[in-house]
Amino acid sequence: MTTDNRIKEVVILGGGTAGWMTASYLGKALQGSARITVMAAPSIPKIGVGEATIPNLQKAFFDYLGIAEDEWMRECNAAFKMAIKFINWRTPGEGAAIPRALDGRPDYFYHQFGLLPEHDQIPLSHYWYHKVSRGEPVPAYDHACFAEPAIMDAKLAPRWLDGQRATRYAWHFDAHLVADFLRRFATTRQGVHYVEDELVGVNRGPDGAIESLATESGRVLKGDLFIDCSGFRGALINKAMGEPFIDMNDLLLCDSAVATAVPNDDERDGIEPYTSAIAMKSGWTWKIPMLTRFGTGYVYSSKFSREDEAALDLCRLWGLDPERTPLNKIRFRVGRNRRAWVKNCVSIGLASCFLEPLESTGIYFIYAAIYQLAKHFPDKHFDPVLVDRFNREIETMFDDTRDFIQAHFYVCPRTDTPFWKANKSLTKTESFKEKIALYRAGMPVNQPVTDETNYYGNFEAEFRNFWTNSNYYAIFAGLGLLPERPMPALTYKTASIAEAEAVFARVEQKRRHLLSTLPSNYQFLRQLHGK
Ligand code: TRP
Repeated sequence: MTTDNRIKEVVILGGGTAGWMTASYLGKALQGSARITVMAAPSIPKIGVGEATIPNLQKAFFDYLGIAEDEWMRECNAAFKMAIKFINWRTPGEGAAIPRALDGRPDYFYHQFGLLPEHDQIPLSHYWYHKVSRGEPVPAYDHACFAEPAIMDAKLAPRWLDGQRATRYAWHFDAHLVADFLRRFATTRQGVHYVEDELVGVNRGPDGAIESLATESGRVLKGDLFIDCSGFRGALINKAMGEPFIDMNDLLLCDSAVATAVPNDDERDGIEPYTSAIAMKSGWTWKIPMLTRFGTGYVYSSKFSREDEAALDLCRLWGLDPERTPLNKIRFRVGRNRRAWVKNCVSIGLASCFLEPLESTGIYFIYAAIYQLAKHFPDKHFDPVLVDRFNREIETMFDDTRDFIQAHFYVCPRTDTPFWKANKSLTKTESFKEKIALYRAGMPVNQPVTDETNYYGNFEAEFRNFWTNSNYYAIFAGLGLLPERPMPALTYKTASIAEAEAVFARVEQKRRHLLSTLPSNYQFLRQLHGK
C-alpha cells in the first residue's frame, strides 16, 4: 500500500496582492487536492498609488486562471502601458516638463516592450550604432529601431478599436483592486478559505517547521505548508523561522518613497500609455496613469534626502499643496532573504525580496515565484533538492534584476547632486562589470530575443533570459552610454549593413501605419470600460 504523502493544508498569511495571487494560482495548480486558507486582517480600503506590470502577466498568470484580459481590466480599472519613459536622466535639475539634454535632444527615452528587429542574426541595435559610429545623422535609438515611440508620443492605444492588438503592452492598475478581484475569484470560484484574523503566534514543531498559526480570536490554523505573504515584516520567514534578510543597500541607495494620487483630466490631456520615471535630486519619481488620475511616488535615498524634503519635492513636481496632499510614506528594505524557502515556509512578495520599482518587477517577482513554487511543489518529504532548486531560481532572478537596476544609476551621466555622485562609486559585482564591458565592446548583452512564438508565450524561456540585449541597449543608449566601437563581426558584413536599411524602412512604414490607424488611448479605454 502506498501512503499518501501529499500536502493537505496550505496556509497563506497575508491578503495583499501576493497573498491572493498565490491563493488563486495554487487553487488552480493543485486542482482541489489540498485545502487552501488565506489568513489576513480585514482589508481597509486604500487609495492606490499605482502599480505597473510587464506583458507576460496575461499569459503566465491570468490566462492560466482562465481570466480574459478585458474581464479583469474592467474589474480592476486597468490602463495600458507600452514602455517606461525615462525623463530627465541626462540633465541636471528636475521637472516633468521635458528639458533638453546637453546634446540638444529632448531628455527622454523609452524602454519599451516589443521585439527589436534583427537582420542576419544581428539585432538592429548594432546596425544602428554602426551608423552612429560613421557619423550618419540618425534618430535616437528608440525612435530609430522601433515604431512604438511615435505612438506613445501621440498617446495612442496599443490596440485597435475592434480589440486587436497592435503591439506588446502591459498594464497599470491599483493593486488593491486586483487583490480584491482575486479574493472574490479565489473564494467564490476556487474554494479558497478566507479567515479574517490577526496573527498572534507561530507554533513550531521539534524540527523547527511551522505546525500552526495562532490568531487573535483564539483560532489555531494548522498546516503542512505555510506561505508568507505578510509583506516587509516577513512574519513567518524572518520573525518565526529566523531566516536572515540580505540587505543590499551597498548596491542600491534608494530605501524610501513618498507617494500619492493626482487627478487627471483624461478628456483634455489624454491618458499616457506608458509609465514615466522622472529623475530627481536624490532618486526618481514614478508616474502611473490610470483612469481619471495617476499614481505617483518619489523613490529616494534617506541618506540624501529627509522625508519632509522629499514630500516637498514631489508636491512641487506636480504643483500640489503640501499641506493638503495626503501622502503615503514608505520605508523599504532592499534585498532578499538568504533563502526564500526554509523547511515548510515559503516567502513570496515583499516578505521574500524587494527592489525599487524602477523596472516594474514587483508583481512579476510574485507570479514568477508562484510559478516556481507550483513547479517544485513538494509533498510531505520536503525533498531538499526541490527546496534548493526553488531558492536558486529566486536568487538568480533577483540578483540579475538587481544588476540591471544598479546599472541605471551607474551609467546615468548625472553627477549634479551628492546622490547622483555617490551612485558612481558603489560596489560592483563581477557579473555587473562583465555586462558593461560586453556592451562597450560592441556586443549584445545577453541573448537577443526575436522570435515571438519561441519566447513571448514561453514563460520558462523568458524567465531564463529576462533582461535581454534590447533591454540593456534601451537603457544604456538612452542614458547616452555608447559602445566604444561597433560590433567587430558586423564590420565585415558590408552586404548585411546595406540590407539593414530595408529593416529601418519597415520600422518607418509600420510607424506610419500605426499612427494613422490606432485610436487614442483615452478613446480605447473609455470604450473598454464603458464610460
Ligand atoms: N522580459 C521583460 C519584458 O519584456 C523585461 C522587462 C521588465 C521590461 N520590465 C520592463 C521591458 C520594462 C521594458 C520595460 O517584459
